[in-house]
Amino acid sequence: MTTLPTELETQLQSLEQSAQAAIAEAATLDELEQLRVGYLGKKGQLSKVLGGMGRLPAAERPHIGALANTTKTALQTALEEKKATLQTAAIAAQLADEALDVTMPGVFVSQGRIHPINSIIDQIVDIFVGLGYTVAQGPEVETDYYNFEALNFLPDHPARDMQDTLYLTDGQLMRTHTSNVQIRYMKAHEPPMRVVAVGRCYRRDTVDATHAAVFHQIEFFAVDKNLTFSDLKGTIKVFLEALFGEIPVRFRPSFFPFTEPSAEVDVQWQGQWLEILGCGMIDPNVLQAVGYDPEVYSGFAAGLGVERLAMVQNKIDDIRRLYSSDLRFLRQF
Ligand code: DAH
Repeated sequence: MTTLPTELETQLQSLEQSAQAAIAEAATLDELEQLRVGYLGKKGQLSKVLGGMGRLPAAERPHIGALANTTKTALQTALEEKKATLQTAAIAAQLADEALDVTMPGVFVSQGRIHPINSIIDQIVDIFVGLGYTVAQGPEVETDYYNFEALNFLPDHPARDMQDTLYLTDGQLMRTHTSNVQIRYMKAHEPPMRVVAVGRCYRRDTVDATHAAVFHQIEFFAVDKNLTFSDLKGTIKVFLEALFGEIPVRFRPSFFPFTEPSAEVDVQWQGQWLEILGCGMIDPNVLQAVGYDPEVYSGFAAGLGVERLAMVQNKIDDIRRLYSSDLRFLRQF
């Protein structure tokens, strides 16, 4: 049986029609590729129709062949055009997707801020680093030796009663001041030295507006040849001016076992004098305890109450506010 040319022509026509319709409908590049394979691929529908060519009379073949080529070209063109359209649409969709609406309200992220205690610690350490001091630190759980004995507190000396100490069951204690850093640092280094140390201290104190059982101190000390009380006073003056500017200050004679002579410094707060630091010339017994020759070296030292300085700087009336974690209070600084 021979195939009639008109039959093949009809098949080619309907193939092109259905292919054009499917290409026009295709919604994705994947779908389009499947259509290409299905119609124009090696085992595609066009190949199948052309399989019937063998049964045509030889004279008809060129005509049908030309028709098949026209169909093929038309479909290829349609596929290419549709591909370009889909690609453009895909890019446009991606751009629309990634578009940033700068008028949309942002997500609020609370910034937080530095606590007044950390803030004043930073300021004070900066001042001393500017004066050439080295930053050091020491342990909060300490032995009697570093907290008291090497600082010239004799075992039964009443000076120990000035610091209501929290003792641990193993005989150690919670350091009552940062002066332990003096001993630890001096034992590990040779003069000359200028050192500043920040730390937490502990005392069995009754808590009130100006006392906390856990508080912070900053210790600074210097050991060199020919250091005098004038150097100490000048350093304190420069320091307080850098921190507070012009502020009424007074030096009072005092006593500490580890300094001789000793003084306390008060500044004006809430219309009264508030003690903010103890200081003095390092006692020769302390220099001897760390192996320095007091005939060659002298030194000065001071311990500052950080909370009290923060209270003066920020006009805070009660030390307990610094630890209440009340955001209405803390947000003011
Ligand atoms: N450690 C003393 C205290 O807590 C403060 C102090 C006084 C420190 C005199 C010093 C100093 O370095 O020289 O009461």
